[in-house]
Amino acid sequence: MKCVVANDHGAVELAGKMVEHLRKRNIEVKYLGVDKEESVDYPDKAKECALELIDGKYDFGIVLCGTGIGISIAANKIKGIRCALVMDSYSARMAKEHNNANMLAFGGRVEYKEDPIRILDSFIDSSFAGGRHQRRIDKISALEG
Ligand code: RB5
Repeated sequence: MKCVVANDHGAVELAGKMVEHLRKRNIEVKYLGVDKEESVDYPDKAKECALELIDGKYDFGIVLCGTGIGISIAANKIKGIRCALVMDSYSARMAKEHNNANMLAFGGRVEYKEDPIRILDSFIDSSFAGGRHQRRIDKISALEG
């Protein structure tokens, strides 16, 4: 598996933990940063990550900002991106099973009730259910024009 990860200054620590965990799981990671507390604009990081993912060489992407909100909104503006802002392992599993999300968003300043690494694993270890869910995803794609 291969994934691409990008974050703003609001999630440096969480992004680092995720990259480390992914590599431990033998998932190849292209890390686009930022790995310092320098202030960057989350729409720029969302665009960078989304365009890299859409290129087709990756299984999924992860974007992170302070809340995960801004960077997920921005990523979802890019055609073909289905970025899910997940809060727990249930929503992460559903993001894959029902929505076939190709990107997850997390917040570095969010107090998750569950370890975000566990939330991430729940997504990676799930599979798209297809069937009626594909029809609904096709309708999402149709909204992109
Ligand atoms: C940056 O301060 C912060 O606004 C950003 O990380 C994110 O939380 C936006 O949604």
